[in-house]
Amino acid sequence: MGLVYARAFLRYNIVSKSELLLAEKNESRRDHLLQLDLGEVVLADDPKISQSELIILAVKPQDFHELAPKIKMNLNPNVIILSIMAGITITQLENYLAHSTIIRAMPNSPVEVGMGMTGFSAHASVTMAQVHKVENLLATTGRTAYFENENLLNAVTALSGSGPAYFYYILRAMIDAGKQMGMEETTATTLVKQTMLGAFHLVNNADKSFDELIKTVASKGGTTEAAIKVFEEQGLHKALVDGILRAEARGIELAGN
Ligand SMILES: NC(=O)c1ccc[n+]([C@@H]2O[C@H](COP(=O)([O-])OP(=O)(O)OC[C@H]3O[C@@H](n4cnc5c(N)ncnc54)[C@H](OP(=O)(O)O)[C@@H]3O)[C@@H](O)[C@H]2O)c1
Repeated sequence: MGLVYARAFLRYNIVSKSELLLAEKNESRRDHLLQLDLGEVVLADDPKISQSELIILAVKPQDFHELAPKIKMNLNPNVIILSIMAGITITQLENYLAHSTIIRAMPNSPVEVGMGMTGFSAHASVTMAQVHKVENLLATTGRTAYFENENLLNAVTALSGSGPAYFYYILRAMIDAGKQMGMEETTATTLVKQTMLGAFHLVNNADKSFDELIKTVASKGGTTEAAIKVFEEQGLHKALVDGILRAEARGIELAGN
């Protein structure tokens, strides 16, 4: 994820290579980063970090405890900390780092292709100008949504963070159905992918509610209606909603808040 941001900032000329420090502890990954030539490659306790305007924390949450003291050593009071670590709250970050200019963001995997959705929240001491600055950075990877209430980041995690996996799950079920009806997997995959892509564009362009859009496909007594009747009878809608609420609850559990 750190690399995704480095690449996106360079692509949009937000920073130059000479302004980018890539902190990585793993030696083979450091060699890889050097070869990529995106910026200077350093260790997390490098004093140069003290000159940074913004630090992005993009390690796994379980690695943060080890990283925090190294970062803390070189924090300048004006630096903005942007954390994308799942489940570590702004208050926890503030306590670990003894620093309050903190923004916490929850991106999702389509950031890799510039089509991400990132929800974010800020510590009360972060100024509007700082929020806008970070929003501009996050927007290099897709769309953003600001949440005044940090607790809603658990809902962001459950909806857009995990959302790509729900989508893959549904696609896989549709492809399995295609195979059961006698289609080659590759053909079923093409049909399903193109259908979802086309339907997404209709959703974005049509001035209709989801119920109206369903009605445009599902005529009375027809095939689509037959399928949706089975989905309803077997509780698919409820299962999806319950699953997403369970994801939110799990996020709260993992964060211990
Ligand atoms: N991937 C997603 O779609 C997604 C979405 C939302 C949020 N996030 C969050 O983004 C964060 C990063 O996820 P990821 O998938 O990019 O993880 P990742 O591929 O494991 O990247 C983390 C990198 O940080 C390195 N690292 C660990 N400790 C370090 C230290 N002390 N100093 C410098 N580098 C250190 C790791 O090295 P080693 O390999 O040697 O440990 C690894 O190269 C996670 O906190 C995750 O919760 C990810």
